[in-house]
Amino acid sequence: MNQKIGVFDSGLGGLSILKELRKLLPNEDYLFYEDSIHNPYGEKTEEELLEITSNIVDYLLKEQCKIIVIACNTATTICMKKLRKKYPNTIFVGTVPAIKVAHDNHFKKTIILSTPNTMKSKRVDELIHNYQDTDQELINISGENLASLIEQDKEKEIDELLDRLLKDYKEEADSIILGCTHYPLIKDQIQKAVPKAVLIDSSDGVSREVKRQLEMHQLLNNKEKKGILKIINTKEESLIKRSMEILEKE
Ligand code: DGL
Repeated sequence: MNQKIGVFDSGLGGLSILKELRKLLPNEDYLFYEDSIHNPYGEKTEEELLEITSNIVDYLLKEQCKIIVIACNTATTICMKKLRKKYPNTIFVGTVPAIKVAHDNHFKKTIILSTPNTMKSKRVDELIHNYQDTDQELINISGENLASLIEQDKEKEIDELLDRLLKDYKEEADSIILGCTHYPLIKDQIQKAVPKAVLIDSSDGVSREVKRQLEMHQLLNNKEKKGILKIINTKEESLIKRSMEILEKE
């Protein structure tokens, strides 16, 4: 029987989504595919990403996942439409920069910070086109190699990069969209760089969409006890311990 929720990302970023999912749906079983060997996705070509993500989907389906959560803005904005075509019977939930949330909250000066690939993607252009208010400024900027620095836990370099990328908006931005799932893991550092901005992250919306899809397809797990979590890391098994620690923090 298809039981698990499959979640994947190019590394630690998926944990920000997984954390919310486990809060909302604690009785589900999860398989988190942490693809650190291919990090960063944000700088790969579309062809490379399609091959990588198709292999992951094949694996998760073989492992009996009932739904696949693309806990990565880059993989979603670049590959999700093609993956849906290639796997028409699979339920996918993706992650996109929460531009709609900024719109719904009537922010006036919003930074969209994401990977180089997400920033230039057609999907982000569409979201800006659909949700930008006439009196709202949306500043679409690339986080460059920020996701890799987070992956390597390079605190000082992260501060320097954030300072350089965000210094022009430090005083004026009222909001910042965390358009890469790695970024919620360094919320405090981002907040320091744009002290007046509200941080907008997609994990809550993604988790609610997963629940809605499972309900709609009658796939919710009705077991009473807490679900099982399994993490696979494609680079090094020792990284799994670090991920477990991040998940258990708070
Ligand atoms: N965490 C991913 C995202 O949301 C990708 C980071 C990367 O590998 O570049 O885009």
